[in-house]
Amino acid sequence: MKILLTGGAGFIGSHIAEALLEANYEVIIVDNLITGNEKNIPSGAKFYNRDICLSIDDIFVLEKPDYVIHQAAQVSVGKSLESPIDDAQINILATINLLDACVKYKIKKFIFASTAAVYGNPLYLPIDESHPTQPISFYGLSKCTSELYIKLYSELFALPYTILRYANVYGPRQNANGEAGVIAIFAEKIINAKTLRIFGDGLQTRDFIFVKDVAKANVAALKRENNEIVNISTNVQTSLLTLFFEFKSIMKNNSLLPVFCDPKFGDINNSLLSNDKAKNLLHWRPIHNISMGLKETILYYKNTIKHNG
Ligand SMILES: NC(=O)c1ccc[n+]([C@@H]2O[C@H](COP(=O)([O-])OP(=O)(O)OC[C@H]3O[C@@H](n4cnc5c(N)ncnc54)[C@H](O)[C@@H]3O)[C@@H](O)[C@H]2O)c1
Repeated sequence: MKILLTGGAGFIGSHIAEALLEANYEVIIVDNLITGNEKNIPSGAKFYNRDICLSIDDIFVLEKPDYVIHQAAQVSVGKSLESPIDDAQINILATINLLDACVKYKIKKFIFASTAAVYGNPLYLPIDESHPTQPISFYGLSKCTSELYIKLYSELFALPYTILRYANVYGPRQNANGEAGVIAIFAEKIINAKTLRIFGDGLQTRDFIFVKDVAKANVAALKRENNEIVNISTNVQTSLLTLFFEFKSIMKNNSLLPVFCDPKFGDINNSLLSNDKAKNLLHWRPIHNISMGLKETILYYKNTIKHNG
């Protein structure tokens, strides 16, 4: 079976490529390397350096993929607020481009990387899939809009899909520059002995899911129930202070102290996503707790930083 994977040179996509190869799928990656890196692509995957905002019908004709896993996106909330048009171009219009190709070339199933950002400020915790979607950023809105397009394409043209709404994903290969996840930023600062800043009191919580667990969920979604929206999360809340103490203990650094700064405007206090549906429907569960995931992540950053001098 052949999978066309967009965004496979990126953080999450490259782990999905590895998990697919491990499960003996053929992997075709389409990525324009705007935030991805060719070094992330596993050797068994075939790579096309292409922009999915333009037609990639020729790749569908040539490769005849069975499934499409769509990870490529504009992933920065900040950039979406600065330039909603660019965000919509990649996150909505390019998704429509792909959906058209999927219908035309009779793809068996479309798997989509969505996000907890579609929920906006939580009305209750843990957030389950029937929680209202009230995005508070253009990024959340563009993902939410794509979800609606996917559902309508499915209704109109019988294209099976699974939409996976990821919680906060972390792990090796996450880009620590720019607007990265807090774990990538903490790891880079601590390893380089730079000041570690916590915005607010550090008691705000997130649901941190290890990237290899997210990759496995994508593989599981290929063959499980169609036309469902599923949270991919741990259903465990971790505060930034807990994260900090975990880092301190793994690094065996007793002198490490954070600097507390004013809270960031618009930051959600607490986030927690139910994963009951994922467990029941995908027969999937996360296997890495925060301590296991952090150890693997820190090791990666230590090696990368040592390697790059
Ligand atoms: N990282 C998280 O915590 C998180 C949480 C929820 C959802 N997601 C979603 O998961 C997916 C993967 O995110 P990531 O964190 O790995 O980001 P990433 O930036 O590492 O990966 C995105 C990949 O898409 C590629 N890409 C972007 N625009 C493209 C275009 N026009 N044509 C071809 N390729 C293009 C990039 O080069 C990159 O390799 C995204 O859809 C994102 O919205 C991520």
